[in-house]
Amino acid sequence: MSDEDMDRIDRNRRHFLTVATAVTGLAGAGLVAIPFLSSLKPSARAQALGAPVEVPIDSLAPGEMVRVLWRGKLVFILRRTDDMLSRLGENDSNLRDPNSDVAEQQPDYCANETRSVRPAYLVVEGACTHLGCAPLEDFELRPADNWNGGFFCPCHGSKFDLAGRVFKGVPAPTNLRIPPYRFVRDDLILIGQDTGAA
Ligand code: FES
Repeated sequence: MSDEDMDRIDRNRRHFLTVATAVTGLAGAGLVAIPFLSSLKPSARAQALGAPVEVPIDSLAPGEMVRVLWRGKLVFILRRTDDMLSRLGENDSNLRDPNSDVAEQQPDYCANETRSVRPAYLVVEGACTHLGCAPLEDFELRPADNWNGGFFCPCHGSKFDLAGRVFKGVPAPTNLRIPPYRFVRDDLILIGQDTGAA
């Protein structure tokens, strides 16, 4: 195994630990929230469990990604750089569903080239479509590996591009799922409510 491979595995391991820590922390918050939720009236409880989640993005720099929890699901928000956006489309022949033809994997308003409402922001569920592991980000450009950056699933090796589109020849059958969302303002995203909703 080359030094580069070892570096990559180390990096992925570190990323996995970061994600695992984040998920554990969020799960812990969920457990703590249960007594609180059970004390709420039914309508308030339903809203707390299923309500849309506001995510401020004013401090998200180009190339950065944040993870949030919506309805118990991990959601990634990646602010793509112009360079990242220019890489989309270069690998279409290696993708299983480059045109987002599987309708269940995104709202209609994200069935486009960037799978997004605004090209700079990818909002995608962090659950591999094989068996649900959390994919790791790997945004480095490695032309020698034919890798333009994207997401890598540590469980069984599925790979997704910078729009969450799945590569051919991996266990995951479909692109990562895009949740319903809309921009409330330029610096605020609401996950769980469709673009176009009042
Ligand atoms: S869960 Fe991701 S490849 Fe199996």
